[in-house]
Amino acid sequence: MNSALIVFATLSLISANEPKLNDVISALDKATSFFESTYDRLSVDGVAGFRLLQAQIGDTMRKWSLLGSEVATQLKKLDNLVRRLNFTSLKAIKAMKIKDPMYFNAFQQVLHVDFWTLKPGWTQTDSSLVYPKVRILECFGEEMSDRCMIQLLGTWEDNGVSCQKTETCSRLMMALNCPDYSLSHQLLYMIIIEHKGCSNIFGAQHMDSKSFHIIEDYKKVFCSNMMQRNLEIENNDFPYFQQDLFLENVMLCGHVGFSDFYKARWLEYILVWQQSAGCFGKHDESGYSPREEQYVFTKHKRVKRREKHLKGGCSDHMTSVAVGALGGYLRFYGTS
Ligand SMILES: *[C@@H]1O[C@H](CO)[C@@H](O)[C@H](O)[C@H]1NC(C)=O
Repeated sequence: MNSALIVFATLSLISANEPKLNDVISALDKATSFFESTYDRLSVDGVAGFRLLQAQIGDTMRKWSLLGSEVATQLKKLDNLVRRLNFTSLKAIKAMKIKDPMYFNAFQQVLHVDFWTLKPGWTQTDSSLVYPKVRILECFGEEMSDRCMIQLLGTWEDNGVSCQKTETCSRLMMALNCPDYSLSHQLLYMIIIEHKGCSNIFGAQHMDSKSFHIIEDYKKVFCSNMMQRNLEIENNDFPYFQQDLFLENVMLCGHVGFSDFYKARWLEYILVWQQSAGCFGKHDESGYSPREEQYVFTKHKRVKRREKHLKGGCSDHMTSVAVGALGGYLRFYGTS
């Protein structure tokens, strides 16, 4: 390629990503303002996404690869966001310790920036790994999922011993054909295994290359199916009660490096879902009556125990997964 062509190619890359990047940054700025005004009312799940966001912005700034006239302004805004997120997360953690000490003790590790350390490199899902058949009912509920994760984190009752292996958790967390939230939680289980170095779960003594490959294989199977689920949700025109799952899938699979979750057309939808308060949740004009919503939730056995509905139709869980997803777009556009 001659140099004129390279310059042209680089310029077109900048012009393609720059407006989107600015949209993402301004959405994250609004979401951070929401976080600052509600931090003492959020659940652990509600704060975790903002901690992931902080890790994503930090990583984006360290590996920033774009050129262009607006880079200095963009980086300045990102630096400002990291400081605000860090400051408010610490206040949120303090408030949570008092308000919900048991759940806080169990899951405080996911509120550390370190928990969300990002690995370099991108990969893609593989449609040949999509399950031929998916179960209709979830493979396990939130209670069981919490229990299995707490055993890895080492915060289960007698405190301290991490990476505890049980027959039930191994069977459930590595089961195939699971739908929806059990599927995304199976991926989260793998993320925790990797973070804690729980190679014993696979019968290995150390986090050797065999354990590493087993984890990567599971991630690929789970994310390929989460991609399939997201494509189905898109085909159904993103019904409100599935937006939370959709965003959770983008957040988690994007976090472990599957860049095909960062589709430009999905970003357009996600940005539209943000409310004027900066949060995500049910738009008032969406046409759901409370009765319909109740039906939707019971039909899908989907009442998140720690989920909080805040005023203005804001959902803390949905806001959390939305900022985790948007932070991933930022990292993807800013570093690749
Ligand atoms: C976050 O706040 C803590 C405590 O004030 C501080 O030690 C740390 O350096 C801050 N991190 C960032 C990225 O600002």
